[in-house]
Amino acid sequence: MLTTERLARLPFLVRYAISIALVGLATVVTSGLWLLVERAVTSPLYLAAISLAAYYFGMRAGVFASVVAGLAIDLFFVEPYYDFSGSRDEVVRLFLFVVEGSFLSLLIDRIKLAADELRNSREELLQLTQYQQTLREAEQKRIALEIHDELGQALTGLKLDIHLLKRQAETVRPGAETISSGLEGLSSRVDSTIGTVRRIASELRPSVLDDFGLVAALEWQASQFRSNTGIKCKFRAGADDLGLEKDADSGVFRIAQEALTNIARHAKASKVEIDIYRTNGFAILRIADDGQGFDTSALAKKRSLGLLGMRERARLMNGDLKIESDGELGTVVELTVPLATGDQINRGGEA
Ligand SMILES: Nc1ncnc2c1ncn2[C@@H]1O[C@H](COP(=O)(O)OP(=O)(O)O)[C@@H](O)[C@H]1O
Ligand SMILES: [Mg+2]
Repeated sequence: MLTTERLARLPFLVRYAISIALVGLATVVTSGLWLLVERAVTSPLYLAAISLAAYYFGMRAGVFASVVAGLAIDLFFVEPYYDFSGSRDEVVRLFLFVVEGSFLSLLIDRIKLAADELRNSREELLQLTQYQQTLREAEQKRIALEIHDELGQALTGLKLDIHLLKRQAETVRPGAETISSGLEGLSSRVDSTIGTVRRIASELRPSVLDDFGLVAALEWQASQFRSNTGIKCKFRAGADDLGLEKDADSGVFRIAQEALTNIARHAKASKVEIDIYRTNGFAILRIADDGQGFDTSALAKKRSLGLLGMRERARLMNGDLKIESDGELGTVVELTVPLATGDQINRGGEA
């Protein structure tokens, strides 16, 4: 592709030749206009040629194009035609035109510089966010493992101890009943704490995501959602392995997590449908509820962090997030993510 940077890196002579060609083109088109209309305006097309030269090749090329354009205007469009005598009039006209063109070139050069800086800093910001997101996922994974293993094991140990104590207590007389039922209660509290620890660990980083991949993790999430909320939740997957970029799996998973949390919190829905499939080099995740919906345009101003986070994650994966909501039909969240490049070539196109 012919990008701005590539054009700017062309050899010196080529850049100046293209600048002359642009001025030539302006001359040809202007001549054509003069054939159609009596004395059509002359300078705008030249200014456009100068602007293009300045934009793609820098300030100096812009000034150069101004000089060539000034000469061309004088030769072709100012009487006497095809003549440059160097009279005072001609020189002043040329000088003024070059000043005008140079000023325009300077402005364009400055604007381009500012735009480049903005683009670079945006790119840096994106990379930084990407890096932080990766760090965060890794950190969450570590904490989840630690909680699961350390706390989980300690609690299981505790449960075993209680069990042994209960056995011993049964030999004590009198008071065996009271101690035993006290220990029973303790044991069931430990059980529910184990459940809580597991839940916290898997919310931080579901091991199914690492062990069985995105589709299995989403299916697990759907079943969790079903049992936690009692809302009907249908899950459909078009493939077992979607073939996303390496870090995209957790991004897609987190977006689904937030979408489902929102449904549980706000939607008052009676059923949810989750679809994930691939089509034309993209993976699509679609989560639709039949709840009360909300005004998406009002939220754009309010900066809702959950939705903002979903958008940001989508952007980090080069993806796109669409949210459509309506009081009658409910809310649809649709995420589109490009597949890994190798995958697009090998398996792209299948649905
Ligand atoms: N599926 C949904 N159904 C109805 N309302 C929703 C849904 N998802 C989001 N919303 C609305 O959008 C708002 C912003 O969502 P979000 O940014 O996730 O913030 P939070 O969930 O913390 O309120 C919610 O407060 C809610 O009013
Ligand atoms: Mg939310």
